[in-house]
Amino acid sequence: MNIKHKNELSFDELDELVRPAPEVVEFEEVAHKMVSRRGFLGGGAAVGASAFVMGSTSLAAGKALAADQTESRLAFSMVKANTLDTVTVPKGYKWEVLVSWGDPLFSNAPALDTSTGGTGASQELAFGDHNDGMAFFSKDGKQVMAINNEYTNAKTLHANREGGMPTTADDVRKNKAAHGVSIVEVDNRGGHWGIVQDSPYNRRITADTEMDITGPARGHEWLKTSADPKGLVAKGTWNNCGNGQTPWGTYLTCEENFNGYFTAKDKDYKMPEAFKRYGVSTKGRYDWALGDERFDLTKEPNEPNRFGYVVEIDPLDPTSRPKKRTALGRFKHENAELTIASDGHVVVYLGDDERGEFLYRFVSKHKYLAGGNNRDLLEEGTLYVAKFHDNNRGEWLALTPKTTGMTDAEISIHTRMAASKVGATTMDRPEWVAANPNKVEVYCCLTNNKNRGVKPNAGGDATPAGGPNPRVKNNFGQILRWKPMNEDHTSSEFKWDLFVMAGNPAVYDDANAGSQNVNQDNMFNSPDGLKFDSKGLLWIQTDGNYSNQKGFQGQGNNQMLVGDPETGEIRRFLVGPKECEITGSAWNAERTTMFISVQHPGEKGNSHWPDGGQSVPRSSVIAISREDGAVIG
Ligand code: FEO
Ligand code: CA
Ligand code: CA
Ligand code: CA
Repeated sequence: MNIKHKNELSFDELDELVRPAPEVVEFEEVAHKMVSRRGFLGGGAAVGASAFVMGSTSLAAGKALAADQTESRLAFSMVKANTLDTVTVPKGYKWEVLVSWGDPLFSNAPALDTSTGGTGASQELAFGDHNDGMAFFSKDGKQVMAINNEYTNAKTLHANREGGMPTTADDVRKNKAAHGVSIVEVDNRGGHWGIVQDSPYNRRITADTEMDITGPARGHEWLKTSADPKGLVAKGTWNNCGNGQTPWGTYLTCEENFNGYFTAKDKDYKMPEAFKRYGVSTKGRYDWALGDERFDLTKEPNEPNRFGYVVEIDPLDPTSRPKKRTALGRFKHENAELTIASDGHVVVYLGDDERGEFLYRFVSKHKYLAGGNNRDLLEEGTLYVAKFHDNNRGEWLALTPKTTGMTDAEISIHTRMAASKVGATTMDRPEWVAANPNKVEVYCCLTNNKNRGVKPNAGGDATPAGGPNPRVKNNFGQILRWKPMNEDHTSSEFKWDLFVMAGNPAVYDDANAGSQNVNQDNMFNSPDGLKFDSKGLLWIQTDGNYSNQKGFQGQGNNQMLVGDPETGEIRRFLVGPKECEITGSAWNAERTTMFISVQHPGEKGNSHWPDGGQSVPRSSVIAISREDGAVIG
């Protein structure tokens, strides 16, 4: 049997290890009946008829339009699925690498040594690993990007250690420094994008950077540690997945699988119930306790409560301290999609990416005022959680002391438990949320959920199939869409439908074939990254199964597609290299270049992207533009 080292497990696999599925399935049969009743097992057509009820946005229209390409707003020829070890873009487009893991941000840092993966000191001055969400900022003619570094490829980062396991304190320092956020000035010289070494904006924020804890959880008993007895200052941020951007010029970085970094030296350590809900275990994937005692649960039992938040950073002020915004709740944050409601309230949509967890909305207490002092709008407000009804209606349930019996601080720290108390709908892993800039409507990738209808979430909430999560053992994922009532993002009610159900119509003729706007040419699985461009087109990125085996035959490597919300049409724009995911996106101010993350190429050891030859694979940000220099988004 092939036994995996724990640092070779994905975060999902780690969750499974900590909380295995039961042998006996109690409500699978009930779930099956629900799906049948909705017609989802009767084939793709039935899906269209029952789920897509929002008038002109019927997906049947999408299919009709695909036959008449002249009317399409997707002005590129579709890229075919492939399994090449390179990036493929449509004819007339080009791509180049902007920055890769290990590139020095400062001229006094050594070049990356791929035989060792560098040292703690070199990594602290270099671009982090596994880049994900990102945003673009401009000031006084300077262009600055903030880019998340979610986690690490242990085998390349610790190339000189057996199995990629950190073995010294400096290995741990390096590993912590490869996480966090990289802030870097970029420019385009002679038609090529690159980073500006030694720019005063260049900065690394890592798992060791001090940041203020703000909002309801600030100073709470559960946040106090021996290094921070008042619970006011957290050290670092890690597993920074998706992101957000505010109209007042700041960057939001979202802490996702923060739980996988803790271990317990004392074998008799008893795990508190609350840690179980958050997947904190004594078997953390990263043994950071080896070099930093605060990751030993027996030494610092409150340390995990200081992570799992959204952090606000001012990338244009290199001396600023990041702020943890606990008002936005604590869970496995994917991204933070911020929009301003018509009455000026700041609304942030937030997904909790774990099987059977929830979809959230934050509404600020105070209002946004253009040109005013908006700096602390994310410090105070109300969190809501989504409840879906089968009649394509839904509601936002407020998480307050009255509805949950918990204090505001407890709601901020144990958000999942608060949401369970009000009866929120368990979802198929909410990943990125994207709000249409030209319309009051919002989309969310529900990436997949093999446990749908198989087992409850970690809080014991049932996960029956139905509503926006219609398929038992959902392998392919779907993109949910909702329209707030009265075109008001603060409304407590909304209408929902599914923009697409991913699937494989080459293999299946049941619900696994996907919805009608999926065909053998554009099919994909596991939508994850999601962002609107200025024209209101939806860029969809995948983080799924690239085996091309069984149900995934013919789907190629992970990819990026573009969807037209008006017609339902979807076209593949890009295919990534082997064993990567495509995630994160940003445009330059002129919108002539789109930047995206190619994360974990060769995560199983089978890629030499981007440097080729026998080189080690490196996560990188790439810049995509048209050969004629025209706007692409
Ligand atoms: Fe880091 Fe849910 O993706
Ligand atoms: Ca990822
Ligand atoms: Ca993701
Ligand atoms: Ca994912």
